[in-house]
Amino acid sequence: MLKRKIAATAVALLCLSPLVSHAFTVGLAFPTQEDPRWYKEGFMVDKGLKDAGFKTDLYFAGETDPVLQQRQVKRLLDDNVDLLVVAAVDGSALTDALKPAIEKKIPVIAYDRLITGTEAPSYYISVDNEMIGELQGEYLAKALALGSSGQNKTIELFQGSLDDNNAKIFFKGAMKKLRLYIDRGDLVIKSGEQKADEISIPGWDNETALKRMDSLIAKQGYNPSTQKLDAVLSPNDGIAGSIIYALEKVGFTKGNMPVITGCDATQTGIENIKKGLQGMSIYKSGELVKGVVEMAQAISKGEEPDYNDDFSYDNGVKVMKSLLCDPEVIDSTNYQIAQ
Ligand code: GAL
Repeated sequence: MLKRKIAATAVALLCLSPLVSHAFTVGLAFPTQEDPRWYKEGFMVDKGLKDAGFKTDLYFAGETDPVLQQRQVKRLLDDNVDLLVVAAVDGSALTDALKPAIEKKIPVIAYDRLITGTEAPSYYISVDNEMIGELQGEYLAKALALGSSGQNKTIELFQGSLDDNNAKIFFKGAMKKLRLYIDRGDLVIKSGEQKADEISIPGWDNETALKRMDSLIAKQGYNPSTQKLDAVLSPNDGIAGSIIYALEKVGFTKGNMPVITGCDATQTGIENIKKGLQGMSIYKSGELVKGVVEMAQAISKGEEPDYNDDFSYDNGVKVMKSLLCDPEVIDSTNYQIAQ
């Protein structure tokens, strides 16, 4: 605000000099530069905003470091950005850091991940996260032909990071499609592991996912000839990559790889789909980037941005005005749309 006030005074005093209008600055706080999805998307949003004429200031929070992100958010608010876009590391850990946004009335957009426990976020942009899970579950059900009863298929389940609201919703969506088959015994979780604390991967960390898959293989004795595994529910491409790597180490190949899901349409995910090692992914980045740029354009004009949902995402303090984009399934027939 201060910067703006000084600029306005200067213009008033030097009224004969050409008027330079204040550049609307968007602060961007992204969760990590270590995950290819977030690294690429940080720069996509940055470019989209710059192309639309905005000034930007982009931060990545190291290796998904919630404390670093709090500092970055505070810094952007100290710098009086006009709009703050946050893809949270831990959606529940930003209440203090965002207090200045409330005091200074700086609008905040929660990007893809919900920010909870604070009234600070003005808008939420994401996809229908339950639908992502449903699409993953549906894909598995179809690929394993679970519709016809009497199947005896094996599966292992993975969930994302529990500090990310999306992880719980993805899993809920997937279970909506798979629970019936598990209950009637057509689909068997061989390890028996299905509780959040058994299957979630903190920080969506690929190393942790690799360790869990290695240990499942060791304990269940999975191998391509005598102990087959038909499917793995993976919440995103990064975790799918670790699962594939672990399975390849014990001899699984394209011809006998379990059906594995993903999300994000990352370069590695698409490569794995092309090689026949991963079944599907979900593309959402393009829509999210377009949507957040449109939101910024409306906000910069003092208008209310378009939103299409004001009932699904309760952040504990308020129900968010949300723009939910459509997730798109990517498989071997259409991966080109995500490249
Ligand atoms: C989630 C997002 C997923 C995936 C994941 C890991 O918030 O919904 O699509 O990107 O983060 O980074």
